[in-house]
Parts: sequence; C-alpha cells; structure tokens
Amino acid sequence: MNQLEKKNKVAEAALQYIENGHIVGIGSGSTVNCFIDMLDKVKSKIEAVVSSSELTTKLVESKNIKVIELREAGKIPIYIDGADEANKFKQLIKGGGGALTREKIVAHSSSKFICMVDDSKYVRMLGKFPLPIEVIKMAQSSVAMEMIKLGGRPVLRENFITDNGNVILDIHGLEINEPIKLEELLNNIPGVVTNGIFAIRSADKLLIANEKNIDVI
Ligand code: 5RP
Repeated sequence: MNQLEKKNKVAEAALQYIENGHIVGIGSGSTVNCFIDMLDKVKSKIEAVVSSSELTTKLVESKNIKVIELREAGKIPIYIDGADEANKFKQLIKGGGGALTREKIVAHSSSKFICMVDDSKYVRMLGKFPLPIEVIKMAQSSVAMEMIKLGGRPVLRENFITDNGNVILDIHGLEINEPIKLEELLNNIPGVVTNGIFAIRSADKLLIANEKNIDVI
C-alpha cells in the first residue's frame, strides 16, 4: 500500500468519530484533504466546521458544508487533523503545511483531538522532521540565532507566507526528548508566533495506518 492509500484509509477511519450535530474542527494538509473528500458520507451529521486554514475553508465550502468562525462555535466537540510526526504519548510535530498556528488554536479549543497519520510518521523521538516555527518576519534572524543556540539548524521556508502573514523557519537537527519543555521554551522567544510541537495539547486519539489496518492508541 502506498502512502496515499494509507492516508485515504486513515481518513476513512476518522469519519466514524463524527456524531450527529457536531461542530467539527478540521486541520490542514494532504491527509485532511482526503478526509474532506469523504465528508459527503457524514455531511448530514455535521452542523458546521471550524477551519484551520484558507485552503481547508475553500475545500469544505466546496462540499456545501457551512464554515463558521471559532468565536461562533465556542468549545468544539471534535478536532480532526494530520501530523508530520507522532510519538506514543500522542505528542506531535505539525506545520509541514504551514497552518500550525490556526491548527493549534482550534486544537486547543476542542474537547477531543483525533490525529490521523500513516506508520512512516510514528516515531520513538520527535525531531527528525524539521520543526516548523511561525515567526514574525522582523524577528526572523533573532529567532534563528536562538535556534542555533539550542543546537538546531534553522532554514527559512522559501517563498512561503502563512495565512497570518508571517514566515516559517524549519529547524533541522533538534532532538526533542522533552517535548512539553521545548514547546514552552520556544513559546517564550520574542517573535515566535507558534511552534510546531503539539505536546501541551497533544492528540487524544492517534489513528495510525499501516499495511494491513488502522492501529488506534
Ligand atoms: C499542516 C500540518 C499537517 O497536518 C501536516 O503537515 C501533515 O500533512 P500531510 O497530511 O500532508 O502529510 O500540520 O500545517
């Protein structure tokens, strides 16, 4: 089974978590796109969607499903998203698609976070995937210097501006053995909008697609 087939399988498995009358938070990325493609199957149960990116909004609206603002939704019962890496504690690296800030906001506002990955993303220690950090442009080099002090190698994501008008630094070479501590530390650097560690608010359920089936942890 190739990676796209696994993404489709895990997306299909996530559909079962949607219940009647749910407002559904939806993340971003290619796995989420597979999930949105299948939403026709459960559309009648969905009251509205809170979206984490401009692209997700466009795709959900193309299915004639209502997208509302977070302030209108209040606490969201369920958030469904992908990730770039996940560990056994359901702590994640996200932001490969650059939507990490809105994703973290929606995840934080949700009662249950279902995360969909394929088995290539399930790792013992986070950090092989370069850690995305959304940064206010003015602070690009000062944040980069802080990352070098922490042992990372920051690379500016070329030709990319987030939905919030900021830049992304991808930090290579970090060994993230204490995800919550590092997430907090990075949050405290002036100019950092959001870092891609999702450990303070980790996933509640991790769905992992492998060759044969879906593991749920
Ligand atoms: C976007 C994300 C995505 O969830 C993450 O990059 C995984 O993407 P994909 O499903 O395309 O592998 O965090 O900001």
